[in-house]
Amino acid sequence: MLVLVLVSVVALLAGALYLFLERRYSTWKRKGVPGPKASVLAFNVPKVMLGQENMGDVTDRIYNEYRDSPLAGTYMFGSPLLHLHDTEIIKHVLIKEFQDFNGRGIGASVSNAAVDPLATHLFFQSGQPWKTLRVKLAPAFTSGKIKYMFETIRECSYQLSDYLDERIAANGGSHCEDSRTLMMRLFVDTIASVVFGIESNVVKNPESAFFTAAQEAVKPNLTNALRSLLAFFARRFMEAFSIRSTSPATTKFFLDVVSDTVDYRENNKVERPDLLSLLIQLKNRGFVDPDKADGKVAEQGQPGDKKLTMNEVAANVFVFFIAGFESSSGTSSFTLYELAKQPELLKKVQQEVDQVLADFDGKLTYDAIMSMPYLEMCINETLRKYPPLAFITREAMVTRKVPLTEVTVEKGTRVVVPVRALHYDPLYWPDPEKYDPERHTAEKKATRPAVTFMPFGEGPRMCIAARLGVVQIKTALVRLLSKYTVTVSKDEPDKVRMNPKSFATTSDMPLNITFHPRKAAAGIQKRRQSVVSG
Ligand code: HEM
Repeated sequence: MLVLVLVSVVALLAGALYLFLERRYSTWKRKGVPGPKASVLAFNVPKVMLGQENMGDVTDRIYNEYRDSPLAGTYMFGSPLLHLHDTEIIKHVLIKEFQDFNGRGIGASVSNAAVDPLATHLFFQSGQPWKTLRVKLAPAFTSGKIKYMFETIRECSYQLSDYLDERIAANGGSHCEDSRTLMMRLFVDTIASVVFGIESNVVKNPESAFFTAAQEAVKPNLTNALRSLLAFFARRFMEAFSIRSTSPATTKFFLDVVSDTVDYRENNKVERPDLLSLLIQLKNRGFVDPDKADGKVAEQGQPGDKKLTMNEVAANVFVFFIAGFESSSGTSSFTLYELAKQPELLKKVQQEVDQVLADFDGKLTYDAIMSMPYLEMCINETLRKYPPLAFITREAMVTRKVPLTEVTVEKGTRVVVPVRALHYDPLYWPDPEKYDPERHTAEKKATRPAVTFMPFGEGPRMCIAARLGVVQIKTALVRLLSKYTVTVSKDEPDKVRMNPKSFATTSDMPLNITFHPRKAAAGIQKRRQSVVSG
């Protein structure tokens, strides 16, 4: 009898859950938004759950299947996701009506810092907490601050070429290495140094604890893939089961390094015009000093300014560190790889680099790297083919109609902008698989809607450090291409295999490049200068 009751209760509960999910999964149908039918158990993304496809791949697929519809609807862990396909709607959501869509739609455990200490950072925040933090951190990335950082950025690129020179000498004339890992080492050093004043020395010593921590944090394995997926789309589940968005090892490393560095700076009265010093001011006072470097007056303290906790300082250090080295190492290594595969493009870039450096008396200066339009077009073409984030998200902060439509979205609905799919739409980018820097001339650019090229996102929430990213990538490429010619083996596949377990755009194969010293071009090999022009 008891068994019968139990079976009946379980059957009733299962039936109720089934009906609830059936109703949930008909949200978009009821609103007249097309989309794939979600199976009750596997949501829309069974392959994502198995690590065979990532959310970027799903977003591309939905875009290609529902290309002609301005909107498409899917589900993730029971929540409806709205995919925007129409470029005018995208503009409204990201720019014109941003105030109603300013959330990232993630949240992980932002509200539960005790459980997930590294989740309380700028990238995950929404609403007023995001706005306040963004305004206070933006002064760290003005052009004045980046010019100030330039000498360090350049010094890191010299250390990389010193390392390559040593390897080339040891290997008898050339050196082959996975450029992705090589550039990761460079940018871990650069970001650690310019943003936090820490010398991580990863180029010289890949065994450094910093590099281990960096690799651990972005390793494209199933655990990290599931953590990112849950952090993005299943905040309640994470909170309910106290799941962190970062592994225990990563969490401990960043909490320890940041608290030691902050203690050192405070005890020794060390002041540097970098991001960490802004974060320390926010921890101690809740507001930052005026931005003297750019001659502007930044925000002064307001009554009730919230002070950051040490964990919040560490969380922001963490996100700047990861965002700072991952995107730049991917972009620079894909650029080297694509140029090595097309020697005629490589030659054209090297001619520009040689000419501009000769014009600048052989000095690798900030102004010199800013005078290389063809190099910039190559970097843009890499960012089109391999945008570090295949999609970006926003969250409806109020219940309202989707701009330019009659479809109502409830407060909290996640909105997906398919960045990579737009970058590959043949309507805007003919023959999209082809790597062709000429697509980025001013004339060609004027023929496309702006949001069809968004590697840094768009609107008030676009990448806060885009300028720094471009400067560090250009500096590294100029140093490398002025000194070396790069080649790839003929056996390399035509198309780079991408990693289905990685949330960011990451190759699933080494990007092996061989570096050959170039015959010295006039005036380009001078090693160190201390003056930053411009
Ligand atoms: C090639 C270089 C880079 C690319 C392509 C890139 C791309 C992006 C993208 C697509 C976003 C989301 C924007 C949106 O939602 O509209 C973003 C946000 C962000 N990026 Fe970057 N990024 C780069 C370099 C950097 C660097 C060097 C740093 C830090 C040192 C950085 C820190 C951040 C942060 C903190 C955010 C969150 C901004 C917010 O939510 O307010 N990024 N980035």
